[in-house]
Amino acid sequence: ANGIRVFDPAFLNTAAISSKITFIDGDRGFLMHRGYPIEQLAEKSDFLETAYLLIYGRLPDKKQDTTWRYEVMHHTEISEDVKKVIGSMRYDSHPMSVFVSAFAALGAFAPEANPALQGRNLYLENKDVMNKNIIRILGKAGTIAAASMRVRMNRPFIAPRSDYSYCENLLYMMDAQSEGENYRPDSRLVKALDTLFILHADHEMNCSTATMTHVGSSLVDPYSAIAAAAAALYGPLHGGANEAVIRMVEKIGSVDNVLPFLEKVKRKEELLFGFGHRVYRNTDPRSKIIREVADSVFEACGREPLIEVATALRDAALKDEFFVSRRLYPNVDFWSGLIYKALGFPLDFFPILFAVPRVAGWLAHWKQMLDHGNGKIWRPRQVYVGEGLRDYVPMEQRA
Ligand code: SDX
Repeated sequence: ANGIRVFDPAFLNTAAISSKITFIDGDRGFLMHRGYPIEQLAEKSDFLETAYLLIYGRLPDKKQDTTWRYEVMHHTEISEDVKKVIGSMRYDSHPMSVFVSAFAALGAFAPEANPALQGRNLYLENKDVMNKNIIRILGKAGTIAAASMRVRMNRPFIAPRSDYSYCENLLYMMDAQSEGENYRPDSRLVKALDTLFILHADHEMNCSTATMTHVGSSLVDPYSAIAAAAAALYGPLHGGANEAVIRMVEKIGSVDNVLPFLEKVKRKEELLFGFGHRVYRNTDPRSKIIREVADSVFEACGREPLIEVATALRDAALKDEFFVSRRLYPNVDFWSGLIYKALGFPLDFFPILFAVPRVAGWLAHWKQMLDHGNGKIWRPRQVYVGEGLRDYVPMEQRA
């Protein structure tokens, strides 16, 4: 418009658009990571292997897999400094605030990780430094999540176990004290959480991943970039939706209240959390898989009573022209909260169970941007639609 470039093709080569990590076909409800359909990864892979695939672009061979698992599970400890930051948070702090603060603190306490302090970028120059910090961040994410839960319970932290799997260790660090040091979480729950972690690991250029890549492009340390990405995920329109779904279903309370609630949504007085997606104009493939995981968790933990209301809400919305015409379908968050509730997590802990696995996707995009973006800062342009050129008006001449 009037000579302003609305879209500059040169923008494409700033690595802000192209990616080799994830492909989504919103119309077909299709999702794949590095060429592998999400259904196959959910069925055949596990979270740490999927994280390796996202970050390094291929399924690891036996040696790579063994080394990867050993390294990640031997970098799960957090320093006393970081524990003090987490321990200083009030018991009623939202766990996501604790998570954001802990990663910002990790950046502060890892000066060698901070290019701003070094006057150069370690990650562009030295792949070993980049990979070491990737391992540290992924390893510590679960420990920080568990520590934020212990703050909430007003209980001492539990040291991680390097001989457990990633999700087994996470559940152990939250419950071991009450269960004794040889506590091993129920394998059905470990498997369910691991599948949920695969489904939440990456999702192309969503709000929090765009934040990680945008902030990371300034060449700040990755811990600070992770803190920024986690803050983006915290929002109820993004990773906070799984918590909001449960609050919504609890507020509806019974199957009889479903239709009156949907009328409020149609009058824009309420939002149907867990429905809709900027990209999926068909059902979110992750939602279908999560619904199946729910049944395995209910078998182990007992059926979550809210499932009846949630199912009635889903069925009514799928038959209602308001939602069908706007192509609004259940997304990844619609069922996951019911699983976390059945697993006994506190409501405001749910977004962290989204954030921990998404650390893998954030790291994958951060690495891709540095590997291929040749260290260029992300600087999107805007189309100016404001006032035309005009002269300054002295106070006495203003209306
Ligand atoms: C995640 O980007 C990602 O990939 C995200 C994610 C990931 O893995 O990273 O998939 C994870 O964030 C899933 C989304 C979780 N959020 C929620 O469940 C919150 C509820 N959903 C909505 O807020 C909404 O659907 C969004 C934010 C997810 C998408 O919003 P859009 O793209 O702005 O919605 P739209 O433009 O397609 O809306 C079209 C119409 C509008 O109504 P009209 O103006 O046409 O009358 O649909 C309405 C919207 O008001 N609408 C909804 C609705 N979602 C859209 N109305 C009621 N309830 C909803 N949930």
